[in-house]
Amino acid sequence: METTILPNEQKIAFDFPRQDALGGVCTASAWAKVPEPLAAAAREPLVNEIKALLKARNAVLVAHYYVDGALQDLAWQTGGFVADSLEMARFGKNHAAQTLVVAGVRFMGETAKILSPEKTVLMPDLDATCSLDLGCPADDFARFCDAHPDRQVVVYANTSAAVKARADWMVTSSCALAIVHELHQQGQKILFAPDRHLGRYIADQTGADMLLWEGHCVVHDEFKAAELVTLKAKHPKAKILVHPESPASVTELADVVGSTSAMIKAVVDGPGDEFIVATDQGILHRMRQLAPGKKLIEAPTAGNSATCKSCAHCPWMAMNGLVGVKACLSFDRPGPSPFEVQVDPALGLKAKHCIDRMLDFTAHNPDKLARAQHGFVKNIGAA
Ligand code: 13P
Ligand code: SF4
Repeated sequence: METTILPNEQKIAFDFPRQDALGGVCTASAWAKVPEPLAAAAREPLVNEIKALLKARNAVLVAHYYVDGALQDLAWQTGGFVADSLEMARFGKNHAAQTLVVAGVRFMGETAKILSPEKTVLMPDLDATCSLDLGCPADDFARFCDAHPDRQVVVYANTSAAVKARADWMVTSSCALAIVHELHQQGQKILFAPDRHLGRYIADQTGADMLLWEGHCVVHDEFKAAELVTLKAKHPKAKILVHPESPASVTELADVVGSTSAMIKAVVDGPGDEFIVATDQGILHRMRQLAPGKKLIEAPTAGNSATCKSCAHCPWMAMNGLVGVKACLSFDRPGPSPFEVQVDPALGLKAKHCIDRMLDFTAHNPDKLARAQHGFVKNIGAA
């Protein structure tokens, strides 16, 4: 892995390690662990067993919109929650259950544990990570911060506890614009990591002075503007919804740029009956439930060696399944559970500071959050 601070010090080039310690390709290792689809006959008894286990363990299931629809349904049916990364964090913190089962990726489980160190936080597979987290090792990030002590350090939620421990603020895509706008108004200069596309998008929208880490999301980085233009020509009435982890050439074509929850809101509440959706296809499950009459079209990805045109699905999110949820709830061998998220308490305490600031800001400034959506999102159209 190589880190390069470019001559103008405006960017840091960093790529996530594509190979794991054994030489395997990271995403291929993830795909290899994706659970087999379950036969319908096997699903119902398994769901019933999980419901009983959740009750017996005083546990609640918190899922992200990208995970398997069966998990999202189970979360709703059992008093749990399905949300974007900001609301997942808030729900886990505020819920009375002693055990949280987080169906998503590792940083989401870590955030839950940092906010509630007294709770047991379980995940179906602790290897479910994120290319942004992998692409921002804490030591390199600390050196980057050390080189720029004059800047407020703002990190995306998709980072490790160690990176958050170094940050002044954590943001998610739901609140990044509002928080950076606020800091910019205060005259602060910003160091932002790790998503280069989100960072560039926020800088463009707010005019803030932002020094960017150059990480990327393997899913959103693959959306292609040229393909999107062709698709739009075939569906001229369709609104284009884009997650801000996508390249600038793609966000420029959007009617709505926003977090997963903003994209869902645009489909449910916004004008129009047809939408082209540029994010992980797992989100379509919730969109179809909430807006059954609307037509949803997956945005094209098509990487260099792609064999399909719309295969936007995060391999790490795909590792979550019903079998894993049952396994994490029923593990009872002596010794530490291989499903339990552990965060060193001292590190967790340091990391909590930037998350608390975000939760506090978002809870107390609904007007600023709303203004950020309407004031800055260029082609806001529907949200
Ligand atoms: P949201 O916070 O918008 O749900 O995004 C999380 C994520 O990982 C998107 O790839
Ligand atoms: Fe990370 Fe991208 Fe997966 Fe989201 S979709 S968890 S940003 S790799």
